[in-house]
Amino acid sequence: LNYNATRERRHIVEVLFNGLRRLEYRGYDSAGISLDADPCEASVTLSSGTVLPSPPPLVFRQEGKIENLVTTFYHDADVADLDLQKSFTSHAGIAHTRWATHGQPSPVNSHPQTSGEGNEFLVVHNGIITNHMVLKETLLKYGFHFESETDTEVIPKLAKFVYDSLNEELANNGGDKQVVPFTQVVMEVMRQLEGAYALIFKSPYYPNELVACKRGSPLLLGVKEVGDKRSDTYVESDLLAKDHGKPKEYYVASDANAIVEHTKRVLVIEDNEVVHMKDGAVYIFKFEFDKSRQLLRPASVQRALSTLEMEVEQIKKGNFEHFMQKEIHEQPDSLTMTMRGRLIRGEQKIKGVLLGGLKDHLKTIRRSRRIIFIGCGTSYNAALAARPIVEELSGVPVTMEIASDLIDRQGPIYREDTAIFVSQSGETADTLQALEYAKSNGALCVGITNTVGSAIARGTHCGVHINAGCEIGVASTKAYTSQIAVIIMLALALGDDSLSTQQRRNAIIDDLYNLPNKVRDVLKLDKDMKELAALLMEEQSLLVFGRGYNYATALECALKVKEVSLMHSEGILAGEMKHGPLALVDETLPIIVIATRDASSSKQQSVIQQLKARKGRLIVMCTEGDAESMCPDRTCRLIEVPQVQDCLQPIINIVPLQLLAYHLTVLRGFNVDQPRNLAKSVTTQ
Ligand code: G6P
Repeated sequence: LNYNATRERRHIVEVLFNGLRRLEYRGYDSAGISLDADPCEASVTLSSGTVLPSPPPLVFRQEGKIENLVTTFYHDADVADLDLQKSFTSHAGIAHTRWATHGQPSPVNSHPQTSGEGNEFLVVHNGIITNHMVLKETLLKYGFHFESETDTEVIPKLAKFVYDSLNEELANNGGDKQVVPFTQVVMEVMRQLEGAYALIFKSPYYPNELVACKRGSPLLLGVKEVGDKRSDTYVESDLLAKDHGKPKEYYVASDANAIVEHTKRVLVIEDNEVVHMKDGAVYIFKFEFDKSRQLLRPASVQRALSTLEMEVEQIKKGNFEHFMQKEIHEQPDSLTMTMRGRLIRGEQKIKGVLLGGLKDHLKTIRRSRRIIFIGCGTSYNAALAARPIVEELSGVPVTMEIASDLIDRQGPIYREDTAIFVSQSGETADTLQALEYAKSNGALCVGITNTVGSAIARGTHCGVHINAGCEIGVASTKAYTSQIAVIIMLALALGDDSLSTQQRRNAIIDDLYNLPNKVRDVLKLDKDMKELAALLMEEQSLLVFGRGYNYATALECALKVKEVSLMHSEGILAGEMKHGPLALVDETLPIIVIATRDASSSKQQSVIQQLKARKGRLIVMCTEGDAESMCPDRTCRLIEVPQVQDCLQPIINIVPLQLLAYHLTVLRGFNVDQPRNLAKSVTTQ
């Protein structure tokens, strides 16, 4: 946060804390904040003899949730007699919520990380520095002492080193010691860093200034005109640097959630751009290195601001207890948004779909030798659920890749391939790396994401936004169903040059129109799922059997159960039952069998019989009206769901299972929205 209006310290602190609360879903094991100290007349001298032109910034860090930091801050502020009413006409504050990659959650490993005494340079970081060991070794030789186990700590120390070296150079050349610009220090630091990062720097050498930069990790600048309640109507010159007239507040954050309640006017910062905020003005530079990694002259960036298409309400829980619960119940609406304007009911019963972002590329995709779906976690499962219909309607062979595995194997990808990247956040590091890899191999790269302006949305050749609305719960729910819906629409678009599949496609389109209503119906199972959760809450383990269209449903159900309720759960391809899993079956272990009506349901019927023969404790998900045939002796517990076209059935089937995972978590007393050790966007590898 940087601004040039008169604000009390308490206000600044609360804006920063609130920003952290909005970002907490991205990481929540520790947090920190840095503020300006009260200005003082005399300069501050450090034990090294270094003289600071302004007092060292204040730093507060704490492990655990944001609220731990808030409590610590107010306690420490009280003890230190910090004046919360102190007014600032310009202030540069930074804050960070962490998801540990290097070093356990602890105050010392929290951000901001510091250069050392006097907080000469402070840094908050999202991402990972892959060459931190080499940098650390060098910095140790120059006498730096490290106190944390983080990769980030090398950055402020390197900044201090660079600052001293550049100033020394200047002094040797007869220059003024203070004139090395903050941005030059940061660009030089960036030159040395490898890995992925979004960084914000703060320093007492540059009071009222912040410098932010990025490579690989997301960063967003928000601009608010002070005086506007919220800057929806902000239509000033897009040449930000020249627009000094009115007081502004600037926000930089990893995503829009931290910003949207202040302003909707944002700029997505691109790789190798440096954002320099100073006394309420902002300057953006893009720089490049030549082949010998020498810094080329940075060019000023002047891009139009864009308007966030989201509402603050989207990131609030409303009447729900948890975000996951809200997002599960939102699915009729999120699916409606996903399909809005994309389904066509043409004349003479010709129906189709319109995916604007792909219209110039459908031919190429149809002609490709292979379609490869690439994703992680739930996004991978969504692609798996829709794979059969893509194969059926496009006739193109489809393979599936978990992003990290593709990278590990350096699996072959060719120019004739279409690689489809599925990612809710659009920022997952593994998926991004796979995208770079596929691009360098010449494949057509298609993005399916929920985040406009995300790295995957920008880095792919074309794509579709799923428009499911902001998803906050770490366990993905509404994004999953919308991703499947989008890939089914993609299959329909790819198949729409074939007359022979017209009827099939029409039937799917009809059911897509009705899908939100069917999801509304299936949500009525909430109470039943709560009862089922109460029966299962003490269990150690839960198996889920699925096949065909619903193999992915089994995997996704197991993923939901394990990630939020912390109960072991495994999704099993029912066709593999006899090749191992059957050994686990006894009268105690609960097993969900997904056996809704489709081409493979008779096989599932026989799976149920075999499991029963081993006294399996079964919960059978079947189509409404099929209870009798699926479980004639009524010894199984049943989840009856409405029927839709087979390829859409995974969207219906997952909903009660999401509810089951949700209720299990609540009953078992775990944190629904922030499951242990997990994060929403995994922007590190
Ligand atoms: C994390 C999240 C999952 C998500 C996965 C992929 O593990 O906790 O919910 O499915 O990342 O994320 P993406 O944003 O690429 O879909």
